[in-house]
Amino acid sequence: MSDVPVIAIDGPSASGKGTVAALVAKELGFHYLDSGAIYRVTAYAALDRGVALDDEVGLAAMARTLNLHFDGIEVYLDGRPVGDAIRTEEAGRAASRIAALPALRAALLDLQRGFRQLPGLVTDGRDMGSVVFPDASVKVFLTATPEERANRRYKQLIDKGFDANLAALVQDLRERDARDANRASAPLRQEADAHLLETTALTIAQAVAKVLEWYRRAQAR
Ligand code: CDP
Ligand code: CDP
Repeated sequence: MSDVPVIAIDGPSASGKGTVAALVAKELGFHYLDSGAIYRVTAYAALDRGVALDDEVGLAAMARTLNLHFDGIEVYLDGRPVGDAIRTEEAGRAASRIAALPALRAALLDLQRGFRQLPGLVTDGRDMGSVVFPDASVKVFLTATPEERANRRYKQLIDKGFDANLAALVQDLRERDARDANRASAPLRQEADAHLLETTALTIAQAVAKVLEWYRRAQAR
């Protein structure tokens, strides 16, 4: 057990969990961990180094020796920023494939837990509240309808100057959600002790305010 508070925000792809988690962290002056970026950069490194995406033993060995560094939302591999290369839907799909492998997930646990430092941590992903930080101070399951999530991702990609096709995105999100929710190892699901935050009709500011309210209420107990 650690005395360092953790706010764990899990949810499906493009629900807004990263945006909300980063803003909550800023408001509280806490550290922020985008755990999805770890899976994305691991898949990116595997493709770069010719490790097959189904080679569980090879991926786990590679993951233990990855030279990763995080600065805000930027991720550095071997000292070089990977930038938007890990933010494409292709990178998301590759991340979701390797994320189904239990030995790879186990190899990434210590790296993620190392982010738990004073004054506190806000983190987002799929298993932050269930596996990585089961004793989190506040657990949130943040979601939105599939249509709204596809629209959010579409706007985000267009704003970044990427090509995007809404129909292909809907299909992509559906496949990734199914793989993330149906895998045997750390599947995406709402924990019994997690607050449900349905954001389809909420602004980002409203979602952030709700998480802060739950955190302050938990601290007052
Ligand atoms: O981390 P995750 O994949 O869940 O989503 P994100 O990258 O944080 O958010 C996807 C997009 O939805 C971002 O461009 C957000 O600005 C936008 N958005 C949101 O996060 N929350 C809303 N209530 C409305 C839009
Ligand atoms: O931004 P988006 O929600 O689309 O994806 P992400 O959070 O960057 O995660 C990419 C992929 O990594 C997900 O589809 C999951 O398969 C995997 N992942 C995971 O298994 N566990 C986590 N804690 C975070 C991500």
